[in-house]
Amino acid sequence: MFITFEGLDGSGKTTQAKRVAEHLRAQDYNVLLTREPGGTLISDQIRDVVLKKGTDELMNPRTELLLFCASRAQLVAHVIRPHLANGGVVLCDRYTDSTLAYQGYGHGLDLPTLKTILHFATDGLRPDLTLYFDITPENALRRKQQASLFGEEWNRLDDMEFQFHTRVYEGYQRLQEEEPARWAVIDAMGTVDAMFQAVVETLDARMAVG
Ligand code: TYD
Repeated sequence: MFITFEGLDGSGKTTQAKRVAEHLRAQDYNVLLTREPGGTLISDQIRDVVLKKGTDELMNPRTELLLFCASRAQLVAHVIRPHLANGGVVLCDRYTDSTLAYQGYGHGLDLPTLKTILHFATDGLRPDLTLYFDITPENALRRKQQASLFGEEWNRLDDMEFQFHTRVYEGYQRLQEEEPARWAVIDAMGTVDAMFQAVVETLDARMAVG
């Protein structure tokens, strides 16, 4: 089973992904937890290029798109597919929906073209279930600002204007409307424990069916 975690930055999805990994391992599933961009040596190098703010040169959205997809192609071929082929469960913090939401809806790149490129990069691998951590851009920004007081770094995409994040948020809603059966929406304004409870209920129901 291939499960992805999606949502705006600050939605708390990374904490939940770690807890889900522990929860499934306790049930003896062979779990691989990974994240995007990154997850292999080569993909981590690409992550630095695409997210770090080290230079004043603006990154063209098409460059950005192709870097995210290059990182993903390596992660899918090198890590995700072999683990699934072994009968394991893969949990991935962000995947193709992030590209559609951020580069597609956020930057306005052509969605049908993006879908073709994503299909090529992943060789058609799609998630069985996507957990979406629902937080408005206003609340996400508030959380990010608080976290930055405690030293969390802002990446190049965090620096985009507020309207960009609003388009990303609306994009996620369109993606859910297109494929409601694949998505499970979790209220990201609850406590960490309440969110986890909701995640576990969704997961246990889906794993039982799976
Ligand atoms: P990261 O520091 O991993 O943040 P988060 O905890 O929110 O996942 O940064 C990943 C950033 O990259 C995030 O701002 C979303 C963005 N992103 C894209 O724009 N497109 C993509 O395809 C992916 C995977 C991520």
